[in-house]
Amino acid sequence: MKDNIVTIDGPSASGKGTLARHIAKYLGFEILDSGLLYRVYAYLYDCGIEHAQIIKTINQDITFKSDDSGIVVLKEKNNITYELRKESTAKAASKISALLETRENLLLLQRGFYSPKGLVADGRDMGTVVFPNAKLKIFLNASPEIRAKRRQLELQNRGQEVNMLALIEDIKQRDLKDKTRKLSPLIPANDSIVIDSSEMTPEEVLSFTKKLTKKEFNK
Ligand code: DC
Repeated sequence: MKDNIVTIDGPSASGKGTLARHIAKYLGFEILDSGLLYRVYAYLYDCGIEHAQIIKTINQDITFKSDDSGIVVLKEKNNITYELRKESTAKAASKISALLETRENLLLLQRGFYSPKGLVADGRDMGTVVFPNAKLKIFLNASPEIRAKRRQLELQNRGQEVNMLALIEDIKQRDLKDKTRKLSPLIPANDSIVIDSSEMTPEEVLSFTKKLTKKEFNK
C-alpha cells in the first residue's frame, strides 16, 4: 500500500512552494518545505555549527511557524526567515546539500514530518529518495527565464532589487549543480507526473493537480 503523501519536486522557482501550500490546504495534509530545511542547515553551518551538531540545534533552537505569508522560522526568539530566503543562503544550501553528511543528517528529520493526516512534501528528491512510496508524485518544471522572472517578482515584493541576467545565470548554475550532483540529483522519479508550467498560470497548475489528487485520494 502506498503512503498518503504527495511529493512535489522540481528546480528552484518552478512554483513548487505555492502549489504545495494550496494542495496541502485543499487536502488537509501537513506540509514539508525541505528546501527550507537545507537553508536552515546551511545557515547554521555558516554560524560555525559542526555537521554533527546541526540536527540537535535544529531540534532545540529552531521553530517553524505558519502565518499568512507562509512559513516563519525562528532561531530561539529571532526571526531568521529573511536571511534564509536570500539568494546567498540558497547558494550555500545548494553547495552543502551535495555532501553525503548533510543528506544523511536531514533524511530522518524530513521523514519525521509524515503525519497520518497526510503530507505534501516539496523539494528535489522527495519522490526519489525521501518518500519513494508516496501515492502521488509530481515533478514541476519551467524554463530558467520564466523561473528567473518569477523569482525577480518575489524578491522585489520583499524589497530586494536584482539583476535579471545575473538571476538567470544563478538559476542555471544552481540547476546544473542540483542535477549533476552524485547524491539525490534533481531528476523526476520514474513514477512521477511531469508538469511544465512555463506556459501555465498557477491556477491552471493547481486545477490540473487537483484532478490528480481526485484520482489518488478521492478528494
Ligand atoms: O527549494 P530551495 O530553493 O529552498 O532549496 C535550496 C537548496 O537546497 C537547493 O538549491 C538544493 C537543496 N535542496 C536539496 O538538495 N534537496 C531538497 N530536497 C531540497 C533542497
